[in-house]
Amino acid sequence: MTLSISRRANALGTETAFVVLAEVNRLVASGRDIVSFCIGQPDFPAPEHVQKAGIEAIVSGRHGYTPSAGIAELREAAARYLGEMRGIAIEPDDVVVGAGAKPFIAYAILSTTDYGAGDEVIYPVPGFPIYESQIVAHGAVPVPLYLRESRGFAFDPNELEDRITPRTRLLILNSPQNPTGGILTPADLEAIAAILRRHPQIWVYADEIYSRLVFDGSFSSIAALPEMQERTIISDGCSKTWAMTGWRIGLTANRTLAPVFTRWVTNTDSCASHISQWAAVAALNGPQDAAQAMRDRFLERRDLIVRLLNEIPGISCQNPGGAFYAWPNVTEACRMTGCADSEAFRKRLLHEAGVAVLADIHFGSRVPGEGQHIRFSYATSNANIERGLRQIAAFVEQASRS
Ligand SMILES: Cc1ncc(COP(=O)(O)O)c(C=O)c1O
Repeated sequence: MTLSISRRANALGTETAFVVLAEVNRLVASGRDIVSFCIGQPDFPAPEHVQKAGIEAIVSGRHGYTPSAGIAELREAAARYLGEMRGIAIEPDDVVVGAGAKPFIAYAILSTTDYGAGDEVIYPVPGFPIYESQIVAHGAVPVPLYLRESRGFAFDPNELEDRITPRTRLLILNSPQNPTGGILTPADLEAIAAILRRHPQIWVYADEIYSRLVFDGSFSSIAALPEMQERTIISDGCSKTWAMTGWRIGLTANRTLAPVFTRWVTNTDSCASHISQWAAVAALNGPQDAAQAMRDRFLERRDLIVRLLNEIPGISCQNPGGAFYAWPNVTEACRMTGCADSEAFRKRLLHEAGVAVLADIHFGSRVPGEGQHIRFSYATSNANIERGLRQIAAFVEQASRS
């Protein structure tokens, strides 16, 4: 017998963004000047009062273990905050705090499906790659639901209904969406809720981590629709709203699953960082002007990047309604530059134009008939956006001629 690694661990997926990032870092280390649009995190510092609350927690000795579900002050603040944003009543006991929103993707799958039992999870494609990798790792069956450019990167509710079987246990929704920036409109949510009412066995994981980054219209959650709150796992957090990615604070709310999620946290992290929990209390209860200013900057950048993308021949980009991602269609640009697909295009952008982006294949299998796409995170300065897009335009022009 030799030491071995489990098939499950070997098959575990990843966020390919991190792989591309490693490639970018190697190029930068070798002296290349790369404009990067890879990272999905705000490029701002966390608000000052949030930083101070973290420091205050340390110096006042509030840095031991906490209850697994989180400190009472944060669960109370989160219940108020999550409830007010969605127009529903949430009790502090419904809330569980975690080390970011990400671990709750696993806890939700682990808590609603059984390993190898054929339980199905429907999830958006293109989508956050961790959904599929966690569905597979926990022995459930991944059932992709395709997002359509013609629908503003929402899915067709009829396609959702077609994918539901008696084995469907969980539906993952993400709005505003990574990677397309698409949002589910109130009409989309009504249509989804109408379907779900016919299938009472299906839980909903509402990944609403970008809830404060809605640019067109206002944020709406499926949890606010009749009969939906009970079965919806609301997932939000501090990472994107208050630029707190490394602080690791995620917030979920669901009355039935809160004690279950709490047991998972006890079994894994014990609790989220105590220090970060106090910072999160300040983020949720304190002034919102810094969060609002960040949102306004993202909106300004969205308008800039979408305009510059649409000026490049062969590239067309819809106006993303939220988050900080642009998802242009580059099918024609691939043809013009002799690139076989979006991944070949991405590689040439990196090596020849000095611009790092991600390709659609980093967000699940390509959607049949939807063409080629690449993803920009515009969580970077206007100057970088202008420089990066200038370099892409020059590359497309020159590669098209040759
Ligand atoms: C769609 C989506 N869900 C969840 C997360 C995880 O966020 P957190 O930093 O709170 O773990 C991300 C982060 O990129 C995301 O894009």
